[in-house]
Amino acid sequence: MKVGIDLGTTYSLIAHLDANGKPLLIPDNNAPEFFSTPSAVYINDRSAVVGSLVDTMLEQKPDLPVIRFFKRSFGTDKPLFIDRNSNPWYPETVGALVLKKLKFDAESYTGEQVESAVITVPAHFNDHQRKSVLNAAHLADIPVLGLVEEPVAAALHYGIVNNSIDNVLVVYDLGGGTFDATVLCLNETGVYVLAKDGITELGGKEFDEAISSMILDQYKKATGMDLELSAAVALQLRRVSEEIKIELSFPSKTFVKKTILLGSSAFEVLIYRRDFELAIRRMIEQTIEVTLHCIDSAGFRETDINALMFVGGSSMMPVIKERMSKIISSPKQKIFLHEPMKAVALGAALHAAQLSGEAGQYNIPPEFRGVTGYNIGIQTINLQTKSVEIDCLIKKNMPLPAQNKRTYFTTNVNQTRIVLQVVQYASLSEPMIEVGELTIGPIQNPSVNYPVEITVENTIDGIIKVNAFDPNTGVEIQQKFTHSSQTLGFNFLSQKQLIANTQISNFAL
Ligand SMILES: Nc1ncnc2c1ncn2[C@@H]1O[C@H](COP(=O)(O)OP(=O)(O)OP(=O)(O)O)[C@@H](O)[C@H]1O
Ligand SMILES: [Mg+2]
Repeated sequence: MKVGIDLGTTYSLIAHLDANGKPLLIPDNNAPEFFSTPSAVYINDRSAVVGSLVDTMLEQKPDLPVIRFFKRSFGTDKPLFIDRNSNPWYPETVGALVLKKLKFDAESYTGEQVESAVITVPAHFNDHQRKSVLNAAHLADIPVLGLVEEPVAAALHYGIVNNSIDNVLVVYDLGGGTFDATVLCLNETGVYVLAKDGITELGGKEFDEAISSMILDQYKKATGMDLELSAAVALQLRRVSEEIKIELSFPSKTFVKKTILLGSSAFEVLIYRRDFELAIRRMIEQTIEVTLHCIDSAGFRETDINALMFVGGSSMMPVIKERMSKIISSPKQKIFLHEPMKAVALGAALHAAQLSGEAGQYNIPPEFRGVTGYNIGIQTINLQTKSVEIDCLIKKNMPLPAQNKRTYFTTNVNQTRIVLQVVQYASLSEPMIEVGELTIGPIQNPSVNYPVEITVENTIDGIIKVNAFDPNTGVEIQQKFTHSSQTLGFNFLSQKQLIANTQISNFAL
């Protein structure tokens, strides 16, 4: 069986196609009434607990060291956790545990083996972050058919379910930890991405924190004291904040009043929706700016958009529809929520059929085209001015796969090596993301102005590849590409061993 996996910041889901090609979510083996797994992991000695069982365990032991939001650390190289045996656990190794648990759920529910998967990523994930997801899958022994972007997967599902065609569609995807804006075109042959943009660290986590700080303020006003945040209190505060936030999304709710138990003291909170919206206003405005910029990058005005689709749990907050419907405001333009917490996984299962050539058999439109999320360039030093310059080889929002080449030359007769920095960047005014360092050489017969042709490719999965050729012979030159995020600690084999030695437990405590 091929599956689609939505590896989410807060919740992860797995879906497959039934015999008629209809995508279905697979239930959590530990809580069969739920079709998602909290992205939470507790690592013990040679065993780990993943998902809803972690929350059950926290009821009894609130100070357990639980790892959440590991998706936010993809693309970085610091361990998230050191276990009792001094083993470092990297973001991708923790992610691998969630993927293994989802695989287990799928296999025990269907009785079939998971052969391969499509895994979703935020649209604006860079090369490092995408490689982390591939590493996590590799560690979990899940062959990856491809990566697909979360808003694109959701749009694919929407397009197929509704038979929607010739639509210029904007997807506003605000989840638990990330925001993506994507402009796509849907037609009878498939899905074509035209532009994308996003914010890595913006989602439900920030909105929960906004409610938490309102609660803490009210506590201080009422008692004259700061609330002491023990592990148990912090856990209760996080849970109750999320509950209040979700309640405030009910159209009829303009405030939530509740007595909450924080530690040993019961305390009444009163949160007005308008105060909450004021507290998160700057963040919401940021998402709107990014969406408008994305529409502009696709070459459209707001009036050209046929439909605006909301996905991701946080897009259910009423303020978002209110704000966006002032911008996408013609009665001919549709604005709607589409399965906000399920569409990504369902779309990923559909994309798995597209990638494995099974689309025809299920009447799924076969075509799919993504775009580059960043400019990709080579950093050079201008010898006259000594300043750092960027040669842009691939521009943002170009159809994938994208490829380009440029020739560089040695500068002196004895030069046997050329070292180039490959970078990725949203715009020249934003920080450069170092992709890696390409060291070319030794060049066998060096001479002044010895030419080396560099090819840079952004694959369908959004991964960057570089290659150096001798343009005179067309033969590859000896080279080494050192990926920036792999230069420190992460050692694939030892992490693989760690995963192999860790039993995912089905029992709480
Ligand atoms: N009705 C609601 N109103 C506001 N927020 C909600 C609502 N329902 C769920 N959420 C929030 O949505 C988030 C989960 O959404 P979702 O499952 O789409 O995110 P995710 O996939 O975990 O994260 P990401 O896609 O950013 O990696 C949580 O923060 C949750 O509190
Ligand atoms: Mg998501």
